[in-house]
Amino acid sequence: MDWTHIHLKEVDSTNTYLKAHCLELPDRTMVSADVQTAGRGRLGRSWASPPGCNIYVSYLMKNIQDPFRATLVSSLGVIRTLRLFAPSIAFFVKWPNDIYVGDAKLAGVLSEYVPGGASQRGGVIAGMGINMNMTEAQLRMIDRRAVSLRSLTGCEYNLKIFLEKLAEQLEQCYISYSRNSERLFEEWKAENRMIGEVLGFTTSDGNSFDARILGINQDGGLELDRDGQRLSFSCGDVTVRRESVSNWVHKNVD
Ligand code: BTN
Repeated sequence: MDWTHIHLKEVDSTNTYLKAHCLELPDRTMVSADVQTAGRGRLGRSWASPPGCNIYVSYLMKNIQDPFRATLVSSLGVIRTLRLFAPSIAFFVKWPNDIYVGDAKLAGVLSEYVPGGASQRGGVIAGMGINMNMTEAQLRMIDRRAVSLRSLTGCEYNLKIFLEKLAEQLEQCYISYSRNSERLFEEWKAENRMIGEVLGFTTSDGNSFDARILGINQDGGLELDRDGQRLSFSCGDVTVRRESVSNWVHKNVD
């Protein structure tokens, strides 16, 4: 496989770096870093990026112009890779861009569109942050419930090996998407374990209510049932309740 890989010791954000160089870099370029000094999350949040203990990586997809589709491809790449290293853990996708275990976040994806130039193709950059070897003390400093692969399994992971496997899985998901986007969309929907559950939902303007998640539409929007009324949202936040997911951590306790 012939992707381009740029590894930086330190960067503000791998997404910001790749955005700045997107037009001159080839499709499927991967930029990773040991530490980010200004890691970014969705909705203007920051992303905790301490040195040497996690995966911070951005992947350029020039054949995809829609950030939702790039998030779909990369979250499947992340979840498939995580399963290679920890097959017994019940990872799931929390709409729209998180990988969760139980009620805690393990990884997040931030996809950003970059328009093309006069003769150069733009595309979408999918930035992935995966909590790998963070200690319990480091996780407690994050402002929402978070886990690392190490806190789940007790093992310490070699980040270089994980990154190599992630590159392979991303490549496979990207190729599968180009061949049959519908099949990959169905696979991603099946990973959204919260479909059918009644959960808390917060709209982008801060309105919160309980609703049953009915499904995800073709544009990646969430379809909800709120007291018998069908609603659709393209952004917002779903709140995972501890009581409804506390037995989801290991696969064999469903
Ligand atoms: C989220 O859950 O809100 C998305 C988090 C995305 C974090 C990753 S880390 C690598 C890349 N660079 C960034 O600045 N953000 C993404």
